[in-house]
Amino acid sequence: MPELIKRNMYCGKPRLRDEGRAVRLNGWVQRSRRLGGLIFCDLRDKTGIVQIVFDEELPPEIFEAAETLRNEYVIGVEGVCRERESKNPGLATGDVEIRAERLVIYSAAETPPIYVKDDDNVSEELRMRYRYLDLRKLRMQRNLAFRHEVCRATRVYFSDNGFVEIETPMLIRPTPEGARDYLVPSRINNGNFYALPQSPQMYKQLLMASGADRYFQIARCFRDEDLRADRQPEFTQVDLEMSFVDMEDVIGIQEGYMKFLMKETLEIDIETPFPRYTYEEAMSHYGSDKPDTRLGLEIADISSYVEGKGFSVFADAISAGGSVRGICVPGGVSAFSRKDIDRLADSVKGYGAKGLAWIKLMEGGVSSPIGKFFTEKEMDALVTAFGAETGDLILIIADADKIVYATLSYLRSVAAEKLGLIDESRFDFLWVTDFPLFESDGEGGYKAMHHPFTMPDPRDMDKIESDPAAVRSLAYDLVLNGTEIGGGSIRIHDRDLQNRMFSALGLSDEEIKGQFGFLLDAFRYGVPPHGGLAYGLDRLIMLLLGEDSIRETMAFPKNQDAEDPVSGAPASAPLEQLAELGLELVKG
Ligand code: AMO
Ligand code: AMP
Repeated sequence: MPELIKRNMYCGKPRLRDEGRAVRLNGWVQRSRRLGGLIFCDLRDKTGIVQIVFDEELPPEIFEAAETLRNEYVIGVEGVCRERESKNPGLATGDVEIRAERLVIYSAAETPPIYVKDDDNVSEELRMRYRYLDLRKLRMQRNLAFRHEVCRATRVYFSDNGFVEIETPMLIRPTPEGARDYLVPSRINNGNFYALPQSPQMYKQLLMASGADRYFQIARCFRDEDLRADRQPEFTQVDLEMSFVDMEDVIGIQEGYMKFLMKETLEIDIETPFPRYTYEEAMSHYGSDKPDTRLGLEIADISSYVEGKGFSVFADAISAGGSVRGICVPGGVSAFSRKDIDRLADSVKGYGAKGLAWIKLMEGGVSSPIGKFFTEKEMDALVTAFGAETGDLILIIADADKIVYATLSYLRSVAAEKLGLIDESRFDFLWVTDFPLFESDGEGGYKAMHHPFTMPDPRDMDKIESDPAAVRSLAYDLVLNGTEIGGGSIRIHDRDLQNRMFSALGLSDEEIKGQFGFLLDAFRYGVPPHGGLAYGLDRLIMLLLGEDSIRETMAFPKNQDAEDPVSGAPASAPLEQLAELGLELVKG
């Protein structure tokens, strides 16, 4: 066991004011090089990097040991802080260096498979395989520390507002959040399975029935779904629930939380209350239920201008129950070449659109493939409807609303990217409310848009059976910069209404009893009105850090194939273990 040099400072801390101070540092060798009679070694820990100098005046055994230092060796150094001759303004400690007097090598390192450097652009696959090396990067250490700060501020805020953190079980009956469950076979009850929670939803409602009044939890959730940049099979929610509240109470607590969090972690003051859009408004203004309002580019509905006019594609879309809508891209004429537009027209097909109509406002007049179908006066009216000016490009889609919205939402983001319309320093929070209660399940039936415990809007209560598609709900989402960071609702707390909801979803009495019986049972014995919300903590942190994937906010994320590249999970299990669980593999 080598001697331990007891640290009195972190590597990222020495400054000019420490000149002459005896410092003891521990860390990893970032790099080491010999220049004549001097050995320069950059030493790194989670706080930063400092330069260490070994010179030939040192006892030979120390200098010789210093000569053996290679990248990622773990060492302890004792020395004196002094002003550097050639300063490095790129480094926080760049005004000083440590002249070493003592060196202990704790462990040697083989040549690492990835370079521990923030700007090393090695493949993500390698980064994840050697995550412990990747995490040594200062950027990743900063991300982990930031995540901790967010969790700390979260616990402070909710504790100060009367919430109690309560853990709910991981081995449960399935909770319906719309994804596939991860199942865990039971040894003691062969043939039976636990599910890992997709969320603590039913337990937090039971906690309200238990009198907990205000609950929160930083909760791990599991969903077996296809992965994306903002989706992991295992992720974390800030989950909460409140009793005796209406939607305004829940929203008020969340706005306070966001204000507190932004101040505590980023020292940013944000304005509350946040803007609110109904689902209808969000869709018709932005084509999305999670709009990014930083980019402008609001959608205009021009159906009334083109209805029954010369261009049959537009007229037909309207008479088939659809609409004609578009966006005006300021300065789009010079930003989008003819080729760019042709490419756009091709890519909108991926969203189901049959074509893309465009109008360029040139110096001498308009240029458009649909120009010939409209009189000059009609065209003027269209241009005015978009508030377009010379140099602008108008993009128009005619189709069923669903396709029009999805396509224009896509075109908004393409145009914003191309023109650099996104102000990265902005944090645009907004609420989307009045979500539909149901959505089509694609097979003629309905599924819950949020989850089946969501309270129908009292204004639409009589339409649950007769016109499900028209029923709104008391559900709300919090959106930040175009990402849904949280969602929740006021819950049904009446057994009969809950049963009505299950029936509308086409569940049999047996299914209801099997899946939700325990919650309905609890509702027999007195349950308060309640509501709540859950945040995607990883997504929130990703946005606050300006990262573009939630993988950058997690210590050990899963890869695209839902594998843990560090440990190699999932892995096969020994046959004896399967037998114990009463399982037999059909293939594999
Ligand atoms: P919901 O399903 O909307 O609601 O989830 C809440 C928030 O969790 C985040 N999220 C995810 N983050 C990363 N990876 C995933 N696979 C993933 N899935 C969801 C999103 C989302 O807004 N029980 C309800 C909440 C409630 O009603 O109180 C629920 O889980 O940011
Ligand atoms: P056409 O007369 O078929 O060449 O169409 C004239 C223009 O209308 C072309 O630029 C097409 O891309 C466009 N267009 C065709 N269908 C649609 C649609 N459903 N929505 C918007 N534009 C369309």
